[in-house]
Amino acid sequence: MCGIVGAVATRPVAEILLEGLRRLEYRGYDSAGMALCSEGEISRLRRAGKVQALADGLAELPQQGTTGIAHTRWATHGKPTETNAHPHMSGESLAIVHNGIIENYEPLREMLKSQGYIFGSETDTEVVAHLLDHLLKTGITLIEALKQAITQLEGAYALGVIHADQPDQLLAARKGSPLVVGVGIGENFIASDQLALLPVTDRFMFLEEGDIAQITTTQIHIFDRQGTPVERSISQFEHGQAAAEKGEFKHFMLKEIYEQPEVMKRVLEGRISNGHLLEQAWGVTASDVFDRTERVQIVACGTSYHAGMIARYWIESLVGIPCQVEVASEFRYRDVVLSKDTLLITLSQSGETADTLAALREVKERVLASLAICNVPGSSLVRESELALMTNAGPEIGVASTKAFTSQLVALLMTTLILARRKGLDGAKEQQIVKELQALPALIDSLLEMDTAVAKMSEAFAEKHHSLFLGRGSLYPVAMEGALKLKEISYIHAEAYPAGELKHGPLALVDKDMPVVAVAPNNEMLDKLKSNLQEVRARGGELFVFTGCGQSIQNEQGVTTLTLPPVHPLLEPLAYTIPLQLLSYHVAVLKGTDVDQPRNLAKSVTVE
Ligand code: F6R
Repeated sequence: MCGIVGAVATRPVAEILLEGLRRLEYRGYDSAGMALCSEGEISRLRRAGKVQALADGLAELPQQGTTGIAHTRWATHGKPTETNAHPHMSGESLAIVHNGIIENYEPLREMLKSQGYIFGSETDTEVVAHLLDHLLKTGITLIEALKQAITQLEGAYALGVIHADQPDQLLAARKGSPLVVGVGIGENFIASDQLALLPVTDRFMFLEEGDIAQITTTQIHIFDRQGTPVERSISQFEHGQAAAEKGEFKHFMLKEIYEQPEVMKRVLEGRISNGHLLEQAWGVTASDVFDRTERVQIVACGTSYHAGMIARYWIESLVGIPCQVEVASEFRYRDVVLSKDTLLITLSQSGETADTLAALREVKERVLASLAICNVPGSSLVRESELALMTNAGPEIGVASTKAFTSQLVALLMTTLILARRKGLDGAKEQQIVKELQALPALIDSLLEMDTAVAKMSEAFAEKHHSLFLGRGSLYPVAMEGALKLKEISYIHAEAYPAGELKHGPLALVDKDMPVVAVAPNNEMLDKLKSNLQEVRARGGELFVFTGCGQSIQNEQGVTTLTLPPVHPLLEPLAYTIPLQLLSYHVAVLKGTDVDQPRNLAKSVTVE
């Protein structure tokens, strides 16, 4: 995780770097720091805590520094203290920022200690600073030192490097952690994410695995992992500036919940002709791959995993082929049995999640093909997969995923339809489902009208410490996602169960202090679910039921129901997700937690 930003310009860069850090804070906010090069000297400021703590002390740095690097940290090695904060320095002249993990830092540290280097932090990063300095002592240039240093590093890194003796130069390198070069006019930048640099540029170069960049105000030289000079194309940022701002909303999470009708349109845009899906949208080899797909393996983490679990219901019922779903952190370390007719689908909003990427790398040679369903076009997952379908949700800043999740669901349902064609889904049925998908923006608009009622419901949760979420069928993963949202941002312990499992153990937890949320559309599972809810009522548990029109669960003492508008059965998981997002949001607001940046978490999990 961690966010890095760097600049080389002819104007002072402190404010540019600070704004970059504010925009990268979603990647970690344990500490923040900045180093600026001015008049042949490097000055550094670091603070434990959020970027605001750094901003409060910024006057202590020379205001005229025109080259600099900055960092916001998500601690992996060493506590979130000021001494462990980046930038790390070797001597007075060299400063670096790092995102990732140097796995062989211990032997490197021992080697460097034996050379007389004294370590001031507990981080893995500091070895890189001293290693560079050690190599510089052999008389080579800074860029040569960086080229040599990375050959000695194992693990993942995105690095930014500055040196007092070369104040007009910013160096960068990446392997396993994201890094973009922002191309300006008479000034250039680096950052972990394009968002950080939107106030200063909308043109970006995506560094590839193993790339090193040597950047001045007017030139960007890139070298690949063999050290050969290479060109990397420049692409324009597609989403407007507003995407990175809260606008009229109190939190990014709420803004992103409300963006969902627009996002639903964007996922479908350019992918439908005459009511049919255009399979070229998945990639040039898509037709051939889908023709030969006989089973599907989905791999993802967290919220993306829940999207995968929902897709399993769709794929097995509409396509009629087996579909397995697994969390990437387990999948990558298991002796997985895969066949050559398996389509591997990786799901990730960021496209940089370390476990999901590792799972892809581990098995991609053993499957028919890999398809990434992702929200970030230049991400590692997309680049390393044979096929890709972008979810086009736009930047998601709130750490708790909302619009990225629902856009993944649409992309997964589209993929299901494409596969189902091969297994006899007739054109008329496809057209009918596509029509339902096209009606999603209006459906979500009407679901958002439940906001006030959901906010009222949330009052019953704010003082509670635990809660249960129940669902059946494809609504069970929706319950899991609802529980994850609640625990993430309100810190209330929330568990999800398939409602039929209740009596096999969790029913023992139910009493008046355990609110039980049920997602209960009016479908063929409703009668079963109702019996499960009776079991809760009989034990004094208070029920909060999201349900469909025309069913018979009544509001009464201990049972609060909210009725959703009619929904096509395939779209129930999408629809029932929306009120659960609102519920967790309002509970968190009532509890006064940090909604967009909940404790201990980060948006993009680029470490194992
Ligand atoms: C929860 C959340 C996380 C992510 C998970 C995977 O709200 O956002 O659970 O879903 O860290 O991230 P991606 O989708 O980027 O691979």
